[in-house]
Parts: sequence; C-alpha cells; structure tokens
Amino acid sequence: MPDPLHDALAALYRARIAPDPIGAEAARVLAAWPQHWIAPAPQDAAPHTASRHVSSVLAAGGPASDLRAALRDVAALLPWHYSYPPRADGPDLAAEIAFAELIGPRGWAGSTSIRVGLTLIGPGTYYPAHAHPAVELYAVISGTAEWTACGEATLRPPGAWILHQSGTPHAMRTAAEPLLAVYSWTGDLQSPSVYVEYPPGRRAIPS
Ligand SMILES: [Fe+2]
Repeated sequence: MPDPLHDALAALYRARIAPDPIGAEAARVLAAWPQHWIAPAPQDAAPHTASRHVSSVLAAGGPASDLRAALRDVAALLPWHYSYPPRADGPDLAAEIAFAELIGPRGWAGSTSIRVGLTLIGPGTYYPAHAHPAVELYAVISGTAEWTACGEATLRPPGAWILHQSGTPHAMRTAAEPLLAVYSWTGDLQSPSVYVEYPPGRRAIPS
C-alpha cells in the first residue's frame, strides 16, 4: 500500500544515485528497499524527551519538503529511543539524542539487510565519537552541525550527505539548531554502535 513516508524516503535515496561512493551506497540501500510498510500503531509509551525538538526541525524550510511533510503526519508515532549506556561526561545525552528506526529488524518496514531511520540531536549537544561495523550514509534534513570523521570537522548544512565507512570513528556537534538526519546502515546490522576514544580533531564550531 502506498505510504507517503515510505515513498518520500525512497525518493530521497533515488535522487542521490550517482557514479560516486555516496551515490553507490544510496543505490545499495535502494536495492534492498522493502516493499511492505506497516502503518504504525499509536504508542502507549511516553514520547522520548528529545522528541520535543521535532516540531521545530520539521517546520524549518529546506530540502526534502515531501519527507518533512510526511514526517509531520506521523510525528507523534515516531519510535524514538536512545541506545547507548550512560557515560559520566555526558549525563544529558539520553535526553538530547534519539534515533527512530523506520526500516530494519525493528522498523515499520521489516528488513534484515538494511536499516533506515532518523537521528535527532538537540541544540548545543556533542554526540561523542562512536563507531560500528556497518557502512553508514547520512542525509541532513534540518540543522547545520559539525560532523567529524577521520579527525576532520566540517559544517554540514541541510541537503548534505555524509558517508562513514565500516569502523570509522565519527562524531557530531550541534550549535544553536537541532539536527535531524536520515541514516542508513548496510553490511553488519547486528553489531551495535559503541562510543570510542577519539581525539576531537579540528573544531568547526567554537566551544
Ligand atoms: Fe554512525
């Protein structure tokens, strides 16, 4: 059954297919795209604390207007969660960072070969360096943030795509704006993302 969010997500990846590494990964994700999408049921659980940022990020202008409109329609149903153990130097992380898997083993569309979902980071938040075996492709939907990988920090605006190869430590830091990005994983979907020790590298946003 057609679903505006399912279709808008697929269109996002379809538009980025190109003869370069990011375009090849977008094609890899689409090649595994599931056909069945189960309409979400209303959640009984209280929404994740970070979801308080959703309305402002979806109201912002920018690229992927069809996707933002589709997300607005299901905003109250998005399955936000935070999956890392607590850390002493980031007691607020669980309240400011959240993920919502839409396609994958736990998604609204089941898949054992790809994960596709949303990453939401509140303003003024450092998502510390982390790594995972899966190859990861991000599409920034809303919010300009500092993205660090391989020691290089870069400001990435809405519309940017970021590819993290398997095992690459990476980190994000938001400034005044919250960040909403679509992520995908291919490869090893089962090994979790874990925090890693990593030098912060050159800063693009002053502390
Ligand atoms: Fe990642």
